[in-house]
Amino acid sequence: MPMGPEEWYKDAVIYGIDVELFNDSNGDGVGDFQGLIQKLDYINRLNASAVWLLPFYPTPNRDNGYDVMDYYGVDPRLGTLGDFVEFVDEADARGIKVLIDLVVNHTSDQHPWFQNARTDPDSRYRDYYIWSKERPPPDSTRGTMFPGEVEDGRVWTYDPEAGAYYYHRFYSFQPDLNLANPQVREEIYKIMKFWLELGVAGFRVDAAHLMVQPKHPGCDPSEDHHDVLKGLKRQLVKRRSDGILLAEADDEPQELQSYFGDDEMDLLLNFQLNAHIIASLATEEVAPLVEGLERTPYTPSGTWANFLRNFDELNLRSLASEIREEVFDLFAPEGNMRIYGRGIRRRLAPMLDGNPKRIKLAFSLLFSLPGIPLLLYGDEIGMGEDLSLPGRRSIRTPMQWDERENAGFSTAPADELVTPVVDSGEFGYDRVNVAAQRANPESLLNWIERLVSTRRETHEIGNGPCEIVEVSESSIFCHRYSGEERSILFAHNLAGRASSVTVFLENGGADSVYAILGDPDIDRKDDRTLEVDLHPYGFAWFEVH
Ligand code: NOJ
Repeated sequence: MPMGPEEWYKDAVIYGIDVELFNDSNGDGVGDFQGLIQKLDYINRLNASAVWLLPFYPTPNRDNGYDVMDYYGVDPRLGTLGDFVEFVDEADARGIKVLIDLVVNHTSDQHPWFQNARTDPDSRYRDYYIWSKERPPPDSTRGTMFPGEVEDGRVWTYDPEAGAYYYHRFYSFQPDLNLANPQVREEIYKIMKFWLELGVAGFRVDAAHLMVQPKHPGCDPSEDHHDVLKGLKRQLVKRRSDGILLAEADDEPQELQSYFGDDEMDLLLNFQLNAHIIASLATEEVAPLVEGLERTPYTPSGTWANFLRNFDELNLRSLASEIREEVFDLFAPEGNMRIYGRGIRRRLAPMLDGNPKRIKLAFSLLFSLPGIPLLLYGDEIGMGEDLSLPGRRSIRTPMQWDERENAGFSTAPADELVTPVVDSGEFGYDRVNVAAQRANPESLLNWIERLVSTRRETHEIGNGPCEIVEVSESSIFCHRYSGEERSILFAHNLAGRASSVTVFLENGGADSVYAILGDPDIDRKDDRTLEVDLHPYGFAWFEVH
């Protein structure tokens, strides 16, 4: 079932990278675009279809680059615009698409627009932001996104220069843009054109769920601004028919479908499923995962981008409180592992006790779920976190390439690195690194490469409704996609004990069943019944004809 070139994203595997943490080419302690170019063959061997780059624009860098000061440049610490173009060319030569972060819900307070807006009430930029002479009353549905980190949880901050309060859903140094202003929309379209001209294949739309909310004081909360997102899509397709928009829309389940569509978003980061997969991995029970799938049904007009971890906290907000507490107890038993009252600031591998079987199970499950998988740099080798770093920085440590000093990330003195490398314990770079895993045929890295390729050739997953197959074990998840010529059947044992299930094959039975991934023992009882024995944390992908 090969698809047209415009539907490439339905079988894509996206690899998420923070340029400053990936590879430092000039020894100044900060990863850069030339360093990233040197590692493109690594990404190519991983067989990722696309990379998603975190913001790399000039920035005061108080929110990991999500506080943009200039939308048309490259942060000088990371290189030049010329380096960026060279990177896109080199990626293109390897068939790797480049997606970049479009952060236009807000700017940095250092952006010239905001500086003009606050100092000159008559400036055309005044109305680029949202102001109020009086402090608007708190609104329980529109609180800060960073409880505990933003002073008194406020979303309005007084600017003495402007003599007014301005609105910000994130930190106070990230004033929200007034997206209802047509001039602001034109600015955004111009930014998109610029990067599309330089060859990017699309954008991750930061904070899309906040972009569609009305922002002015006293607004009607039921008003919606999906037209803002539709405008982005119109700009994109004018320049690139295979371009995509991947939205960070961490919205309520009943709202999610409204983001999809030919005239809106192609892909949605699946926050609902993320929390629910994690809950199933933690409790070793299938039920939360099933609930997550019910909340994020298949739709032909869009594709889910599923993930286990991203660059932020693992947000458990969407879980029922009892399950959330259980997940906290199992995966973040210490207070220091938690953040914002809703999240976990750990990487995947340590949450799974560094157990290779369990980590492989988690990735196999992720890659089999309806939609496409997104992989966070370093998770393919099972990197850990550094809880001594503040807030969400705990998981944003440099890539671990080899055993040399600074994990081969940089030749700068260790105290000059942008962030320290994880250099001790079970996940220290002497134990967890690319070079060591290359040398070991059984390593996570070598297995993930195989998983990526297997997913990319299994078109049924990105294209079809997924059917949950009833089995008698509450810790074994079986699901299937039915194509015209074959169906693909999966069995995942979430528990640390061996188990067996009986699976009834589809209507007419099957001529042949064989495993394409995993290591199960199977026994064909008859042409309609399959007995599958799974090892502890075992899994299998079957092709059924
Ligand atoms: C979402 C990003 O993932 C997060 O890191 C950032 O702080 C906010 N958007 C604000 O841009």
